[in-house]
Amino acid sequence: MLRTKIAGIGKYVPENIVTNNDLLKYMDTSDEWIQERTGIKERRYAHRTKETTTTMGIEAAKVAIERAGITPQDIDFIIFATLSPDYYFPGCGVLLQREMKMGEIGALDIRNQCSGFVYGLSIADQFIKTGMYKNILLVGSEKHSFGLDFTTRGRNVTVIFGDGAGAVVLQPTTNENQGILSTHLHSDGADAEVLAMYNPGTHANYWKENLNSFDEAEIGQMFISHDMINNAQIFPNMDGQTVFKKAVVKFPEVIMEALSKNNLSTTDINLLVPHQANLRIAQFVQQKLKLSDDQVFNNIQKYGNTTAASIPIALCEAFELGKVNEGDLICLAAFGSGFTWGSALLRW
Ligand code: COA
Repeated sequence: MLRTKIAGIGKYVPENIVTNNDLLKYMDTSDEWIQERTGIKERRYAHRTKETTTTMGIEAAKVAIERAGITPQDIDFIIFATLSPDYYFPGCGVLLQREMKMGEIGALDIRNQCSGFVYGLSIADQFIKTGMYKNILLVGSEKHSFGLDFTTRGRNVTVIFGDGAGAVVLQPTTNENQGILSTHLHSDGADAEVLAMYNPGTHANYWKENLNSFDEAEIGQMFISHDMINNAQIFPNMDGQTVFKKAVVKFPEVIMEALSKNNLSTTDINLLVPHQANLRIAQFVQQKLKLSDDQVFNNIQKYGNTTAASIPIALCEAFELGKVNEGDLICLAAFGSGFTWGSALLRW
């Protein structure tokens, strides 16, 4: 039976380090508040004009492709996960295909926010297991710093997010002691507006009367208007406490679902790489599952929450630090906007 293995992994984070104290220039916050509530000490911001979500994804992809021992032209399918694309459309996948001079292969963009990488991994797994593709490039990349409210009004969201990219090359293997064992995907749209960026969009207030108001005469401006810009309605909006409460339930649940599907237990996990949403959430999950410090990898302290990029960046860093070895049982788990959440269990 074919399994899907990670044949190469890479990451890219911009050079520009932005500390919590650097944010004081823009908003009323403090290093103490940010570290206490989120664990974040610093994050990276992409170069304003010389780096995009796609170019960062390309840098991560180059490393993953080289480590897989193949060339960009060997890639036969692209999956690109991001919530901060270069263009509203087309997606980043085709820009990456063009810039990396790949053939006329399929390029799929997915919008599952913080669980984008796990969703992408699951899609790739299906294509590899059926024998359809042999070298899938999966990228998670975000340039959040371009779309955040850098005033005190937006501080609850802005301090959390950072930029960066991670990528993996996925290949088939017949080795039964290697590869993805299972993936588990979930969603619950009941709280779709709890962590969301409403505009620009085509909703025209359909889902929530009071999201913002429109004068009928301004119908041409319902997609994006000066009002939306002036009232900061073009930035992400988050009810942090609702996110927190749901995340600490769904993370353990979906990790246990993956373990029980494979008749394994928490003691079998060599490394849990949770989506880096908030260090407090990861610590809560660790405690709940009674995992040791060695069994969990976190790096949100250095990079903030990089959404679709956070799991591949963390997994890549763990790999580079020698914390991921052949045969290790790795658990990936994510939760985020939608809400959507998921897990993947794999042997390295
Ligand atoms: N600096 C200083 N004060 C801040 C602040 C900041 N960056 N952001 C919010 N505050 C203030 C609020 O204005 C509020 O002040 P008030 O009591 O005077 O009204 C106070 O801190 C508490 O705000 P609250 O939003 O209740 O804080 P919290 O304890 O819930 O922490 C989060 C906020 C965002 C850190 C927390 O809710 C969280 O981590 N949630 C999960 C978010 C997450 O993981 N998102 C990504 C999902 S993938």
